[in-house]
Amino acid sequence: MNTTTQLSAITSTKDGYFGQFGGSFVPDVLKLSFDKLYNQFLEAIKDPSFDQEFMSYLNDYVGRPSPLYYAKRLSEHIGSKIYLKREDLNHTGAHKINNTLGQILLAKRMGYKEVIAETGAGQHGVATATAAALFGMKCKVFMGKTDYDRQLLNVNRIKLLGAEVYPISEGGAGLKDAVDAAIGYFIEHPEVFYILGSAVGPHPYPTIVRYFQSVIGKEAREQILAKENRLPDSIIACIGGGSNAIGIFSAFLDDKDVKIFAAEGGGEGLILGKTAATLSLGKPMAFQGSYSLVLQDEQGNPVKSHSVAAGLDYPGIGPEHSHLNEIKRVKYMPINDSEAINAFKLLSKIEGIIPAMESSHAIALASKILKNKNELTIINLSGRGDKDVDRVLAD
Ligand SMILES: Cc1ncc(COP(=O)(O)O)c(C=O)c1O
Repeated sequence: MNTTTQLSAITSTKDGYFGQFGGSFVPDVLKLSFDKLYNQFLEAIKDPSFDQEFMSYLNDYVGRPSPLYYAKRLSEHIGSKIYLKREDLNHTGAHKINNTLGQILLAKRMGYKEVIAETGAGQHGVATATAAALFGMKCKVFMGKTDYDRQLLNVNRIKLLGAEVYPISEGGAGLKDAVDAAIGYFIEHPEVFYILGSAVGPHPYPTIVRYFQSVIGKEAREQILAKENRLPDSIIACIGGGSNAIGIFSAFLDDKDVKIFAAEGGGEGLILGKTAATLSLGKPMAFQGSYSLVLQDEQGNPVKSHSVAAGLDYPGIGPEHSHLNEIKRVKYMPINDSEAINAFKLLSKIEGIIPAMESSHAIALASKILKNKNELTIINLSGRGDKDVDRVLAD
């Protein structure tokens, strides 16, 4: 009998495909270690003691379940009944800690003593450094120099937690370059465990990250049924690589009457080089280990992305989202920088909640598409905005 919590079911094929997207485009040496990782993951999630340990950290360390909060003033302002799934209230300030704790427990189970991570907004870096401190492991975090400079609060937090931060100046000095650096380091140091922060990259990461983040959707579904006695009309999340979005969407994908929307980093408009709206403008290619949509030029080279939100500023996207876009189960829409900044200020003023710049994209999308619709909606508030306050004040 299976006595584990069973978050989401595994929906990818055994080779990590979601429809035509996904897979593992990596050198053979990495393929072997990723096969081992996948097997260990499948074993772990069947083991009740792994599940119990994961759940007890989520409850007592992270503070889960995160509340589902009825945002009355935001609802009146928009003209729809809006609940916020408060991932911003998690320890460390975002959803990233759910996945990080799951992966570090896997690392511990597999006997690793050192972890590495990439980070964009710094939230995944903070979450990984936190988990490493908790389990007494060494930790290195790779971060694009542009993000290092614009998310300095998180850089300092990572250092205080005892991890080393490596600013990466190569390429566009952003999240893509941080991922490249982390993969490069990982190839040369098989003794470390790579804690990947979003539902991207080669198999099995999109499947593993989806599983650990699906706690968001599982809770949200139970909470909305308890509060409203019905499912919502829609769900909205912001999307960088896609982990908070798939985390909440996973519990509602089979409910055909629940509409699902995701807000991409639209940047300064739908022009290559000025946007991070991968699902709006991307084309398929193998990129950073996975076949998925990517912002690319006519020669098929990835193009530097732009978004005011460091965590959305990425030219790729997790393969499951490319699939959900292709089968039209989820509608992906760009939100530009100024719309996100306005939503950041709006939520702060009318709810007393300062959202992460990433999450502000989801608030902005709700303001656009739910105006006077009188619908019941859940917005995933993926993180809090302390890290973005200076940027918004300077605006
Ligand atoms: C608060 C917050 N929300 C969203 C994201 C985007 O990542 P993902 O699409 O994996 O949820 C980030 C990434 O750093 C983040 O820090």
